[in-house]
Amino acid sequence: MLVKKSANLLITGGSGFMGSAFIRFLFEQTDFSGRVINVDLLTYASSKRSLASCESSPRYTFYQANIHHQAFIEELLLNHEIDAVIHFAAETHVDRSIQHPEVFVDTNIRGTFTLLECIRKYPHIHFHQISTDEVFGSLGEGGTFHEHTPYRPSSPYAASKAASDHLVSSYAKTYGLSITISHSVNNYGPFQHREKLIPCMLHKAFQNKKLPLYGSGQQERSWIYVDDHAFALWTILTKGEKGQAYGICGTDIFTNLAVVKKILSTVLDVPENQLDESAYISHIADRPGHDFRYALDGKKLHSLGYKPKIDFAEGLKKTISWYKKERYANTAFSGR
Ligand SMILES: NC(=O)c1ccc[n+]([C@@H]2O[C@H](COP(=O)([O-])OP(=O)(O)OC[C@H]3O[C@@H](n4cnc5c(N)ncnc54)[C@H](O)[C@@H]3O)[C@@H](O)[C@H]2O)c1
Repeated sequence: MLVKKSANLLITGGSGFMGSAFIRFLFEQTDFSGRVINVDLLTYASSKRSLASCESSPRYTFYQANIHHQAFIEELLLNHEIDAVIHFAAETHVDRSIQHPEVFVDTNIRGTFTLLECIRKYPHIHFHQISTDEVFGSLGEGGTFHEHTPYRPSSPYAASKAASDHLVSSYAKTYGLSITISHSVNNYGPFQHREKLIPCMLHKAFQNKKLPLYGSGQQERSWIYVDDHAFALWTILTKGEKGQAYGICGTDIFTNLAVVKKILSTVLDVPENQLDESAYISHIADRPGHDFRYALDGKKLHSLGYKPKIDFAEGLKKTISWYKKERYANTAFSGR
């Protein structure tokens, strides 16, 4: 067991989309009895409201701080008797990485380096790196990525995550740190920032605007509901082996066009085959370096007992009804 149920966890980026889902999951859906220390800078991508349900717990503490602040992080590790660091904090939007790559280098590479330097002083602390399947680059028509696929990142975002993964692995080899890495497919669910595909499409839909789709929309992605990601991560931490990487896959693979049609069909309550695509979707210039296809082999993690519980149809319904209630309560969708 890498992390005991009574462990004290320092979570970086815990106010972001996936970090907050993991903290809610720990408190609400597991027998976790330790403490959570959340360190988050609260950038544009974060949401304070995402952790409203945990704030009153005496086992939850929040610090607004930068992971670059080495002395402060070291003090937290010591004062809170931290057993493991779960590292979510990152700049995460591919389009932004194309416009402003330097902040990705700074946060994702330099930030991870700083955390590793902190842990080097306290080598009993386990370090889990939240990575992505995007470090592996793009697949052609067939095949799947697995944990040993060579890295071939396409975007500055993916390259910065790849570089930080390499730092993590090198600190395990060189300094003997206890580490694990997870490579997840695309997450979706409540509290995701509007710049990402599903919330972006919902936002446009509820503004009665056409849904902007990159290129032909034929790029394929695998999807996981964010609570399933939390479950997968907890499986790794409680049943995984140190030094190992784990692929986290979801239930379904779809083209971006298929995802957008499913969104429209659910929001409009019209069967997918009766949708007039041209009325609701506008194809825009493709993203430079856009990866064609991601798919991941999740057998290694399945062998630890993880299996996603929520398929895309159910997850999308839950996500849409959350956005409708939370963000767009007073808007009606007419499609244009
Ligand atoms: N969203 C996905 O589909 C996906 C898939 C695979 C892997 N990942 C990885 O999962 C992690 C979390 O992704 P997300 O979608 O929740 O991201 P997010 O953008 O929603 O949240 C990132 C969080 O990190 C915080 N942060 C940024 N810079 C910081 C700094 N210097 N110091 C402290 N906090 C800082 C932000 O304030 C924010 O709360 C990232 O490492 C990302 O690369 C995401």
